[in-house]
Amino acid sequence: MTDAALRARKVEALTEEEAQQELAALATEIARHDELYHRKDAPEISDADYDALVRRNRTIEARFPALIREDSPSRRVGAEVAEGFAKLRHGMPMLSLDNAFGAEDFLGFTASIRRFLRLDGEQALQFVAEPKIDGLSVNLTYEDGAFVRGATRGDGTEGEDVTRNLLTLQDLPRRLDGPAPARIEIRGEVFCEKADFLAFRAAQVRAAEEREARRARGEKVGPAITIPVNPRNFAAGSLRQLDPEITAQRPLKLFAYAMGEASEPVAETHDAWLDRLRGWGFQVNPLSELLADEAAATAFQARITEQRAALSYDIDGVVYKLNRLDWQRRLGFVGRAPRWAIAWKFPAEQATTKLLDIEIQVGRTGALTPRAVMEPVGVGGVMVTHASLHNEDEIARKDVRIGDTVILQRAGDVIPQILGVVPEKRPKDAQPFVFPDVCPACGSHAVRPAGEVVRRCTGGLTCPAQTVERLIHFTRRNAMDIEGLGVENIQKLFDEGLVKSPADIFRLARHVETMRGWEGWGARAGKDAKKIANLLAAIEARRRVPLDRFIFALGIRRIGEANAKLLARHYHSFAEWRAKMLAATVIGSEAREELGSIQGIGPAIATELAEFFAEPHNLAALDDLAREVTAEDVEIAAAADSPFAGRTLVFTGTLETMSRDEAEAQAERLGAKVTKSVSKKTDFVIVGADAGSKATKAAELGVRTLTEAEWREMAGQA
Ligand code: IVH
Repeated sequence: MTDAALRARKVEALTEEEAQQELAALATEIARHDELYHRKDAPEISDADYDALVRRNRTIEARFPALIREDSPSRRVGAEVAEGFAKLRHGMPMLSLDNAFGAEDFLGFTASIRRFLRLDGEQALQFVAEPKIDGLSVNLTYEDGAFVRGATRGDGTEGEDVTRNLLTLQDLPRRLDGPAPARIEIRGEVFCEKADFLAFRAAQVRAAEEREARRARGEKVGPAITIPVNPRNFAAGSLRQLDPEITAQRPLKLFAYAMGEASEPVAETHDAWLDRLRGWGFQVNPLSELLADEAAATAFQARITEQRAALSYDIDGVVYKLNRLDWQRRLGFVGRAPRWAIAWKFPAEQATTKLLDIEIQVGRTGALTPRAVMEPVGVGGVMVTHASLHNEDEIARKDVRIGDTVILQRAGDVIPQILGVVPEKRPKDAQPFVFPDVCPACGSHAVRPAGEVVRRCTGGLTCPAQTVERLIHFTRRNAMDIEGLGVENIQKLFDEGLVKSPADIFRLARHVETMRGWEGWGARAGKDAKKIANLLAAIEARRRVPLDRFIFALGIRRIGEANAKLLARHYHSFAEWRAKMLAATVIGSEAREELGSIQGIGPAIATELAEFFAEPHNLAALDDLAREVTAEDVEIAAAADSPFAGRTLVFTGTLETMSRDEAEAQAERLGAKVTKSVSKKTDFVIVGADAGSKATKAAELGVRTLTEAEWREMAGQA
């Protein structure tokens, strides 16, 4: 049926297939009108006709929620609520969890805990199991027992101040019932029950229909009515309302489950901590359970999997947390996740659909990545139209051809994957995919070094796709975090020639007149009237950033957030880092050795950094940027009274009382730098049993050596 013929049918009469076809057509059409209206100032249809399209899209979505597309026009509206909240810094970062997707992963997790803590098989590991609710996490601060403020998780370091909205939640104790520390952060999940969500959605659908009827009668109507997509989005949207009165009308609940910063210890086990929370008046998930040993996790997981559908709220797995808090402290964190907890997710959901095309995307380091374009299909509650194909070998191995019916898998929030094809459904004319050997963006050669799986564009900074991707990376939330400078704006600024390098962003104020002349940016920008002013203010706010963010923002290959932090911690200041990186471009130099010996960096990453600094244009762009932006020195937060603060340590040989991993993690907590090889810069070498050449080298260089007992004593734990 044609799109026009479909449009004439009543929504109630549409089959699922027809609805899918029409939603696809509506998404394209509405996006086109948005573009005409907002960017080109040249609308082709009346406001009433436009509203009718949006309404039709909503009504179909309300009837077929499983068909809601990733690019649905109804999804684009939601994001606007967040503007206008003040930022709040968390006392302790809010981190994420590593995932397990089966018993084997879970076993690997417990084995690594045993290794780290040096526990033998005899000693039972007790975990608390808690259903993992699909909501949004919040950080609640209590001072002298009174709730003082609350924030969303945000980027993990800073969230949005939603104190007034949280105060509308019945489950939130205004005062902690009973004795409490002077200051404590309590973390939990705000969520919405399935039945409440469905009732709210049904009411919204009715309201939307009534609004439509009024409009049909030629009466005046209020603003468009949003129909929420799923309980999670509904909860998030409800909590992030600028008007707390609206939040108050939403059926939001709260389960408390974790501790942030606390002025004094409150419990010795997680289990006892949950009891404290209950005692203070919080709701704690009643299904949470202390397991006698790690073997009990499998049975718990099976039981919850069975109960899942019958639960009144959505969950996507179970969180297992080591019960002993002293062990949690010793284990600490790696990257953004604790070593002592894991989220064991439910099995991924699968679906089949048709592969329409394979696109090649060019990333910021020039990597050519194939991406599958598919007929939209619902998997686990969302519509999927794209999936990752990883690299050319993967396409060949799975023998994926355009026109094939493919099996798709989606697990949690991970990008959907193509598992394979259904060979019986292959059309006769399907051709194997030929991976391009030139860059689709700039036409440069795309080469694949021997032994690597990735083909890369050799265009470097002359490749527009790479340049734009780098700029996008640079402004991202966990990098420079320049608000309002999204993908579209960067593309526009690049296309117009105003921004070619990161430093150019900080010189945009010189081009206000030019930008004012652009459609949708200047006087005719309507509700975006302050767009340019806001953008420039957001840029100004980032003239000073911590050194690790600055390093990460540069987008050097393999320098993710964790490695950027390691570098910043090691070199402290931008000047020192820059000088040492330049020196490290010489293979075999002292600086190169030092770089490669930083715990967690290693020679491969050292090479990557050296290659970046060996390119004159990279250095020029970096210095240009450093003239615009100040990268703040890293302060050693660790106890200044520790004899290891700011010192460089090397561990060698086998330690008796703790694993090497634990010793190194502890040294870092005390503000030390841990490196792998001994040099003149080393302050201490801790010598365990059967130490080899490193102990000898320490003696040669006159570096102070410590026995394990001395190390423990100086670290304050003898
Ligand atoms: S503990 C370091 N416990 O899962 C501890 N998180 O991937 C991290 N979540 O952002 C959090 N239920 O939104 C924890 N019982 C639970 C949870 C839970 C849901 C969410 C939370 C967090 C995410 C971590």
